[in-house]
Amino acid sequence: MRKKLIAGNWKMNGDIAMAGTLSAAVVDGMPAEGVEVVLCPPFTALSTVAKILKGTKIALGGQDCHSAASGAHTGDIAANMLVNLGCRYVILGHSERRANHNESDADVRAKAAAAHAASLVAIICVGESEVQRDAGRAAVTVAKQIRGSVPDDSTAANTVIAYEPIWAIGTGRTPTQAQIAEIHDEMRRTIGERWSREVAESMRLLYGGSVNAENAAEILAIDGVDGALVGGASLKADSFLAIVKSCH
Ligand code: PGA
Repeated sequence: MRKKLIAGNWKMNGDIAMAGTLSAAVVDGMPAEGVEVVLCPPFTALSTVAKILKGTKIALGGQDCHSAASGAHTGDIAANMLVNLGCRYVILGHSERRANHNESDADVRAKAAAAHAASLVAIICVGESEVQRDAGRAAVTVAKQIRGSVPDDSTAANTVIAYEPIWAIGTGRTPTQAQIAEIHDEMRRTIGERWSREVAESMRLLYGGSVNAENAAEILAIDGVDGALVGGASLKADSFLAIVKSCH
């Protein structure tokens, strides 16, 4: 049985005061059981949020890491540095990083391998553009990204894959339930072919892209959807907690 996971991706938002208030409110409203939650604040707020999450069931995550363990990489953060701050997860290969920082599948794969080596769970993002969807290439695009971005050493324990159609991120538009179900089936089939049926059946596959308090219950009820990666709606405790509670 795959336990649902709700990950809050704060992106480049929030100062220290906001991070403290928001994470404390999430701790206060967190249901006692039935769902796992991870908060991914910007690097600058990680230590503040780490203090508030300490001793709770809510996990901490980074939004990126470098593929090297250390070295001359100005501005970058190593996986072990995230672990050092109390992180258990790291988001990798988000479409904003693929677009803004030219990250290729091979780059994402190297970062995920580094995350695994540091004992982090990698939340690896995949998803088609609108042009690819309109051309009928959504499923093949996602399958190719999985084969290219997910390292060989991946297991259901160290890897989560998030299906995030680029056209649904921050737009208020979401795929139909049938479209999400179709891609999730395809993802599980690809994982089964590349690793094994056991890995495919136990790895958590999230949906992300305009998940909010109103549509969460419907999306989380889709067969094969094991949780959500939430951007905008994770910046308010009320909407984020409503999504977390939709898992019940
Ligand atoms: P959104 O972002 O919920 O604001 O659409 C999701 C994401 O990019 O992870």
